[in-house]
Amino acid sequence: MTVAEPRSTSTETLLVQNLSHSRWRSGPGSLDALAEEWPEGAERAVVVADQKAWRSWGPEVMGALSRVISPPDVIGVASGERSKQPAVYIRLVQALLRAGADRTSVVVAVGGGVTTDLAGFAAGTCLRGLRLINVPTTLVGQVDAALGGKTAVDLPEGKNLVGMFHWPVVVVSDPRFLDTLPRRHVRNGLAEMVKSALIADPDLLDVLDRDARRLAAGRPPAPDTVHRAALVKWGILGVDPFEQGPRHVLNLGHTAGHAIEAASGLRVTHGEAVAAGLAVAARVAVHLTGFARSEADLLRQRLRRLGLPDEPQVSFDAARPFLFRDKKVRKGRVRMALPRAPGVMEPGTGDWTVPVDEDLLLECWHGLP
Ligand code: GLY
Repeated sequence: MTVAEPRSTSTETLLVQNLSHSRWRSGPGSLDALAEEWPEGAERAVVVADQKAWRSWGPEVMGALSRVISPPDVIGVASGERSKQPAVYIRLVQALLRAGADRTSVVVAVGGGVTTDLAGFAAGTCLRGLRLINVPTTLVGQVDAALGGKTAVDLPEGKNLVGMFHWPVVVVSDPRFLDTLPRRHVRNGLAEMVKSALIADPDLLDVLDRDARRLAAGRPPAPDTVHRAALVKWGILGVDPFEQGPRHVLNLGHTAGHAIEAASGLRVTHGEAVAAGLAVAARVAVHLTGFARSEADLLRQRLRRLGLPDEPQVSFDAARPFLFRDKKVRKGRVRMALPRAPGVMEPGTGDWTVPVDEDLLLECWHGLP
C-alpha cells in the first residue's frame, strides 16, 4: 500500500497541509502562526491543557493566542492515561460550561494524546459540538494522536471504547515543544514512528536506525523526521478520514498493544505496549501475509536499538479479554492490520485487516512457532 509520497521537507519552512476536515501546520514557528489559522467566527477560546505541558509552555501558548483573542480560561488536566476516565470527561464538560463556552467557542487542547483525546471528546459532545484546535506537545501527539479526529475516553473493559470522530479544525505541531520531553515520552513516540515507517515509508526505518543511539537516550528526532512520520498518517487520512478501510492500517501494533496496556493496568506505557504489539504483529504476518521472517527479526532488533521492548510485557491469558474487545473484532474473531513487507500493508478483503485465529495469536505472543 503506497499511501504517502516520499517528499522532501524543510525545517526552514512552515508546512501547511489541508484536508477537507482539517488543516495541519507543522515546523518551526508553527505556534507563532496560530493567529493566522484562527477559525472564522470563533469569538472565544477555552484552553484544556495537560498540567505539566502548561507549566513549560503556557506563556508561549497564551502569547500566541493573545494575538487573536482575549485571554482564555485554562482548564488543567492531570498527565497520564487515568485522565481518560469517564468521570474526568464529565467534569471537563462541566468546567467548559462554567468557563462560559458557547457555540462560538473554540476548545484549544494543549498536551499529548491523553489531552487531545479527552478534550476532543468533550469538545465534540459539549453543546453537541464545539470547534477544536489541537496543539500537540508530545511526539505521540505530533505523529499520531492529534491528527485525524479520533477522540475517546476509556472504560474498565478497554481503552477508547467510548468516543467519536471530531476533527480538529487546525492542528499546530511546533517542534520546540519536543525539546523538553522526558525520555519516556520520546520512546512512546518512537514506537508510533516505527509503525508509520513500516506502513508506508520503509526508508524512515533506516533514518531512525542511524539515529538510534541518540533517540534511545531520549533526544527527540529532528523536525524533518517527525514530519515525515506524521505525513504517513496524513496521507492515509486523505484517503479514508473515517476509518472505513485503509485507515485500519494505522492500527498496526495496536491490537496487541492496547490489550497489553490495558492488561498491565496502564503500568506499561502506550509506546512500550505498541512496540511489543508491532513485534507480535510481525510474527503473525510471517504466517498470514508472507512477511519475511528476517524482516520480523530485523524489526525486533530495530526496536531494541531504539530502547523499545520487543516482547509482550503481560501474558496472553492476561491480555486475552482485552484482545477480544478490540474495535476491529468481527463475529468473535480478532482482526489485525498486518504488513506484507516493510511499506506494503495487507489489504485483506478490502478493509485492510486480517482475521487471526486465537491459537496462532497465542503462539506468536512469545515467539515464532
Ligand atoms: N491512531 C490511529 C488512527 O488515528 O487511526
